[in-house]
Amino acid sequence: MPHYHRLGHIPPKRHITFRRPDGGLYAEQLVSTEGFSDLYSLVYHCHPPTQVLKIDPAYSVAPKVADPDNMQHRLFKGFDVAPDDDYLDSRVPVLVNTDCHISLAAPRQSMKDYFFKNSGADEMIFIHRGEGILKTMYGNIPFTPGDHLVIPRGVVYQFRFSSTDNRLFIVESPQPLRFPKRYVNKAGQLLENAPYCERDIRKPQVLETHEDKGDFLVKIKRDGKIWPYHYAAHPFDLIGWDGFHYPFALSIHDFEPITGRIHQPPPMHQTFETPSFVVCAFVPRLYDYHPQAIPAPYNHSNVDSDEVLYYVDGDFMSRNDIKQGYITLHPKGIVHGPHPGTVERSIGAKETKELAVMIDTFRPLMITEQAFAIEDPDYWRSWLEGK
Ligand SMILES: [Fe+2]
Repeated sequence: MPHYHRLGHIPPKRHITFRRPDGGLYAEQLVSTEGFSDLYSLVYHCHPPTQVLKIDPAYSVAPKVADPDNMQHRLFKGFDVAPDDDYLDSRVPVLVNTDCHISLAAPRQSMKDYFFKNSGADEMIFIHRGEGILKTMYGNIPFTPGDHLVIPRGVVYQFRFSSTDNRLFIVESPQPLRFPKRYVNKAGQLLENAPYCERDIRKPQVLETHEDKGDFLVKIKRDGKIWPYHYAAHPFDLIGWDGFHYPFALSIHDFEPITGRIHQPPPMHQTFETPSFVVCAFVPRLYDYHPQAIPAPYNHSNVDSDEVLYYVDGDFMSRNDIKQGYITLHPKGIVHGPHPGTVERSIGAKETKELAVMIDTFRPLMITEQAFAIEDPDYWRSWLEGK
């Protein structure tokens, strides 16, 4: 992300000799994105990062699309996704298009015998339940419920959970996931009117340097497949690094809501953006304070975006019968709006405790087989009075 950071030991200039205590050279690696034209970091390995021992057969993790042309409001019960011991096996894609893959995961165990690298997409992992440490080649990031973990493509990582009841909401983007442009100034600093600032961005702080050699399995995801690579050196063998390419955490609880006298539109809730979709956070806040304000949202048509809401906690003001972990999908092309009774109920209310993450995609989302397995098939009729 666009703030310079460094950890460990690095030489005073780039691309010069930098020696280990035994006299050998550290191995410099440029981790660059969009060729050499976007964010990058320079990292220094104890061992060359190129020493491959073995490559196991690749296997597919591509989503199985069941409905490529959805034109119906949908509700999926996210907590009905079965837990799985293994992190990668636990990831269940539910809504996908070429710009965005949305998955749910309930991994029970830490990753102990392999590492993971998504080489084709940035990942935003929202921690609904669970805590622990995200270990990465750039250092460690402790996490708790409410954290968005943003992991740029190419970062090798490992989840270490201190809990077994873990629920993750995962978004993969082949295009860079960024702070919204209107939140940053010309130099990349977050502006005063942004709902979060640099102090809320938790960068890796502890760099562990593992110098051991052996057989280290890194499962690399690219183009819908996992490629199991065995390396001769531990992937977390950096003695130091600096640059702008690294993972970080931002807690939804550090998102400061922007409120007004009358209803504020969804862009007020924006957290991140790509050229193809936005991420928003609905957080506890005071309601609109015009004496005749209607805090519930108006009916609206997503003329050119699909809207996904992932419900985290609290009563959601515009919806009836919503529980934690539910996902609603309101596709472009048809109107949606507040559920019966919710508009009247919202008038005069002073505050909301709702907590939710929203994804608005500019291209329609396709529904996977696994999503239909957890669908409430009657949701599209839930706006009828008396339902
Ligand atoms: Fe909406």
